[in-house]
Amino acid sequence: MQVNDLNAVDTRVFPPSTVRDQGSHQVLFGGVSAVELAETFGTPLYVIDEAAARNQARIIREALQSEFTRVGTDATVYYAGKAFLCVEVVRWMTDEGLYIDVASGGELAVALAGGADPAHIGFHGNNKSETEIARAVAAGVGTIIIDSVQEISRIAEAAEAAGVRQRVRLRMNSGVHAGAHDYLSTAHEDQKFGLPLSRAVELSAVIDAHPSLDFVGLHCHIGSQIFSSEAFRESARRLVGVYSDIERELGRPVPELNLGGGFGIAYTPDQAELVPDIRVIARELADIVSEVCIEAGISLPKVAFEPGRSIIGQAGITLYRVGTTKPVLLAGTDTEAHGADPLDAGFAERLYVSVDGGMSDNARPALYGSDYHAIIANRHSDAPAALARVVGKHCESGDIVVPRVLLPGDVQPGDILAVAATGAYCWSLSSNYNYLPRPAVVAVKDGDTRVIVHGETEEELLARSVL
Ligand code: LLP
Repeated sequence: MQVNDLNAVDTRVFPPSTVRDQGSHQVLFGGVSAVELAETFGTPLYVIDEAAARNQARIIREALQSEFTRVGTDATVYYAGKAFLCVEVVRWMTDEGLYIDVASGGELAVALAGGADPAHIGFHGNNKSETEIARAVAAGVGTIIIDSVQEISRIAEAAEAAGVRQRVRLRMNSGVHAGAHDYLSTAHEDQKFGLPLSRAVELSAVIDAHPSLDFVGLHCHIGSQIFSSEAFRESARRLVGVYSDIERELGRPVPELNLGGGFGIAYTPDQAELVPDIRVIARELADIVSEVCIEAGISLPKVAFEPGRSIIGQAGITLYRVGTTKPVLLAGTDTEAHGADPLDAGFAERLYVSVDGGMSDNARPALYGSDYHAIIANRHSDAPAALARVVGKHCESGDIVVPRVLLPGDVQPGDILAVAATGAYCWSLSSNYNYLPRPAVVAVKDGDTRVIVHGETEEELLARSVL
């Protein structure tokens, strides 16, 4: 990497509006400078580019809808709220024509508070409480996704008590699992979600026998950070493979098929080329579903997807303030013995750059070994590259924000670092570890800022202790 690149703003990982101002050399997000954001709202700070989130939602919805219309059916796109949900984001998503997927009573409350049409909400969860089920039924939630045999009668009773006919899907474990490494396997049935595909026909009939339940189809979510449509092909084939048996058993067509979420994003510039255009994926998915339905001899159901990360991930960044820096000699030259990254060859030391947040605002590196990308956002620097690791302020050595990044070697206390692609599963997985208050979330758009989630204060955290 060239020295100059260290100042570069790579919009394959940062929101498209991100630029380095030619005068001040500060980085602007949605027209607002990182310095102004940090000074006004403090750090750490989650920043969401509203236009980026909305555009991505619209692009994904339009791509899937136009491709599925091309093959003769419809596609519905649910935004998977677990990636990041607050009232304002519900408004953005519903404005852009998306439905909302919630996975708890709390997410349901946020979706409703954001004005989502209850009929456009899908309610997930492998252990929904009876209260959650009753709330969902009473709210008129469009679809409840059944994830266990016990839930069939629980939902049926709740619907009966409420005097409604509840639409339900049945979540299947297709045996296909895809993820960051994009592998296909039949060995992933040993997990808590869904029911075995071998029971689909029998359970559909059990559901159909309840007058208070309206069985609309099967659901399957095969994983996350998926970069190709191949795993979807196998999953769709397996699901659709049982549709004709179900249709025979029920004596009617099964109108819908939900293939879940999971489209991957780039967290670092190196990953950018792995990410296919969503329009290409959409075309392939439409062809796949059409082909497998023809193979299975059934008419095309309406299709639904539930992307989360691919909509909100790259719309979000996190700003941190650097507090301390510490060069550490890299262990020996025996890279194999020390398990060192061959990419680190040529660097004698690693610069630990400590910031004012960490695993409490981004648990992903600690949980999944995730990579991220960071730049200095308050100034330009011509200093030679240092092999850096951005770490948090928590009492754990696994408290890493960016495992490996080249930063200008003069990175120093007071600098503001911007970490890219933190819009998904960062705020939603945040914690108060070490009594750190959760940061605020600020939306930026056309030079304006708006707090969309308040940050916590130490007083609020203290108030939770019984005195
Ligand atoms: N639908 C269902 C049923 C899901 O379980 C999930 C994610 C999604 C949709 C959305 O998947 P997405 O499009 O966002 O990949 N915390 C992990 C990700 C966990 C995903 C759980 N389910 C992470 O930070 O990578």
